[in-house]
Amino acid sequence: MTKRLSNKRILLGVTGGIAAYKSAEICRRLQDEGAEIRTAMTSAAQKFITPLTLQALSRNPVHLDLLDAQTESAMGHIEVARWADLILIAPASADFISRLAQGRSDDLLTAICLAADCKVVVAPSMNRSMWEKNATQNNMGEIQKRKIKILNPDEGDQACGEVGVGRLMEVRNIVNALSEMFETHSLSGKQVLVTAGPTREAIDPVRYISNHSSGKQGYAIAEAAMEAGAAVTLISGPTNLPVPARVKIVNVESADEMLEKTLSIIESTDIFISVAAVADFKVESPASSKIKKTGELKLSLELSKTPDILLEISKLNGRKPFTVGFAAETENLIKNAEKKLREKDLDLIVANNVSDPTIGFNSDLNEVTVLGHQLHKTFPKSSKKTLARNLVVVIAEKCLDSISYG
Ligand SMILES: Cc1cc2nc3c(=O)[nH]c(=O)nc-3n(C[C@H](O)[C@H](O)[C@H](O)COP(=O)(O)O)c2cc1C
Repeated sequence: MTKRLSNKRILLGVTGGIAAYKSAEICRRLQDEGAEIRTAMTSAAQKFITPLTLQALSRNPVHLDLLDAQTESAMGHIEVARWADLILIAPASADFISRLAQGRSDDLLTAICLAADCKVVVAPSMNRSMWEKNATQNNMGEIQKRKIKILNPDEGDQACGEVGVGRLMEVRNIVNALSEMFETHSLSGKQVLVTAGPTREAIDPVRYISNHSSGKQGYAIAEAAMEAGAAVTLISGPTNLPVPARVKIVNVESADEMLEKTLSIIESTDIFISVAAVADFKVESPASSKIKKTGELKLSLELSKTPDILLEISKLNGRKPFTVGFAAETENLIKNAEKKLREKDLDLIVANNVSDPTIGFNSDLNEVTVLGHQLHKTFPKSSKKTLARNLVVVIAEKCLDSISYG
């Protein structure tokens, strides 16, 4: 059975309510669906259940303090916020919700929520009277305005002996709601082709020319497109990454092979997203057997240009897919990306600065600017997965526009 949360990183925040014991079950059930879990607890939460429980279940240290030099690496709350694809606060106390509504950041969990660019989901749990109060309802209204998603409490028997609305939503319903949040339908019915990773250009049977591309951004985009309802084919150069569930993989090595496979399915493709870092040059005549070391101090390799896949696609007669290119640049980022956009007749180009070692190639983070017709949008530094989802939203919108306006 497909795990609905595979490859998803969820930060589970636990606050000081009687339902804190249910957070252990939430952790396990989210893991059953394939999610990777980290946890953070408020001081009050630690009076209800021990960090040891969540540490053992999540197999990760629990984040506890904002200002503790021993436990927090520098800017730890920012790192955790960037790490997460989604933050779930369950149970969320009335007090936590009020702090969230005020935009405070004087404890770790509120600081993480304030620093996060990913979706934040709050599952309140409290006595029915606390829930009904205007103060709580006003706070709920305030956080909803900020697109924080609420998993409303259930009605029923309460730990305090009362009956009413305030029980934490059933764990299985929380897990279902979270799984559905990753699925949008913005690309339903679309055939999407993504290329990812580096290519390898053979020197001889054991050596090759390649680049530092890890494939992480391309794989994340393939996964985000699949979650948006598309049928996705991923043509990938050599990487060490797991193939996202429900994505069709086609493995290739060289630029020539990547072009050949791309052309073989481009006719049936609605959206082509070219993320691969295709080598620009290949060895003109690779040796058929291993080149032996000789007394010579130098060896010359004659290189020739590899095919430009995006240019080949732009030259296609007839039905051309909505085409998105990536420009990995080390200088003149926007100027070079604009040039590529025009020359290769792209619908969109995503420019990223690969000279910054904290983003791009091997990093889990990225920061990009998307350029297109009347579009110049910069996405600040975030995880490649969060960025992939944001890019898919833009791609879906622009693709729809291009269909409406011919
Ligand atoms: C036994 C006990 C149970 C509590 N249960 C809840 C609860 O279910 N929901 C709630 O909002 N507050 C509850 N509280 C109050 C919170 O613990 C208190 O507001 C605390 O400041 C919350 O801190 P936190 O939001 O930083 O975790 C309870 C307090 C006690 C002593």
